[in-house]
Amino acid sequence: MSPSTPMDQSHTLPCHVGIIMDGNGRWAKARGKGRLEGHKQGAEVARNVVAWAKDLGIRQLSLYAFSTENWDRPKLEVRGLMSLLSILLPKTLPEMMKNGVRFRVLGDISPLPGSARRAVEKAMQQTEANTGIDLILCLNYGGQQEILAAARKACEWVQLQGDNQSAWASLTPERFRSMMWRHDTAPLDLLIRTGGEQRISNFHLWDAAYAELYFTDRYWPDFSRQDLQDALTDYASRERRYGLTSEQVS
Ligand code: FPP
Repeated sequence: MSPSTPMDQSHTLPCHVGIIMDGNGRWAKARGKGRLEGHKQGAEVARNVVAWAKDLGIRQLSLYAFSTENWDRPKLEVRGLMSLLSILLPKTLPEMMKNGVRFRVLGDISPLPGSARRAVEKAMQQTEANTGIDLILCLNYGGQQEILAAARKACEWVQLQGDNQSAWASLTPERFRSMMWRHDTAPLDLLIRTGGEQRISNFHLWDAAYAELYFTDRYWPDFSRQDLQDALTDYASRERRYGLTSEQVS
């Protein structure tokens, strides 16, 4: 069997996949539509990708829906994205329950409009016990902000220890990660970015250290199950060495 067939991937399937869903605006522009139409179509694909990921055996999926920098977009677009969230989340809840999706958020939701925040909180509460797949929506998320928040916690933690010097010495990357917002999610294995740009844009910065990166020109609203499968096939062909030699990891 060829190493790229789906069955062969069972042992090389990523546990946690993160997606930067880029290209909504260009998709809309190419069709003479407004940017919000692109986001609406993108939201439909986001809904589908959760089901595809679950079917394919992925345990955790994080979607970059709104970055800390996205607040500076035109007011109308920000408002549109927030109302999409408050309208679509309740609509999608029955589907999430049926598919065993546990909905979670990475980011600071406190500045979100009340209706969006309430929709997010309700979805988290109602899906808490589901075990099919974790959907981690990155909302008002920034990787630098996440690291900075952990650095503040680390300083407080060191202050509380009797011997500051040995506390600093025992601050390993693992201990530091345990102070991050993401502490109870698996490390990111595969980071997919659609839309043709090849950058990380403040997404999952800490875990990007050893995540495999996959870029596709496809605009997010055109992203299909086959595109996800292609990314997984590519991932399965990678050798993850974490700084070791090829001989060591094999
Ligand atoms: C990037 O494309 C996309 C976003 C900033 C938003 C992603 C949002 C969705 C997929 C909808 C679901 C999310 C919510 C909050 C309901 P872009 O607009 O930068 O595209 P462009 O680079 O072509 O302009």
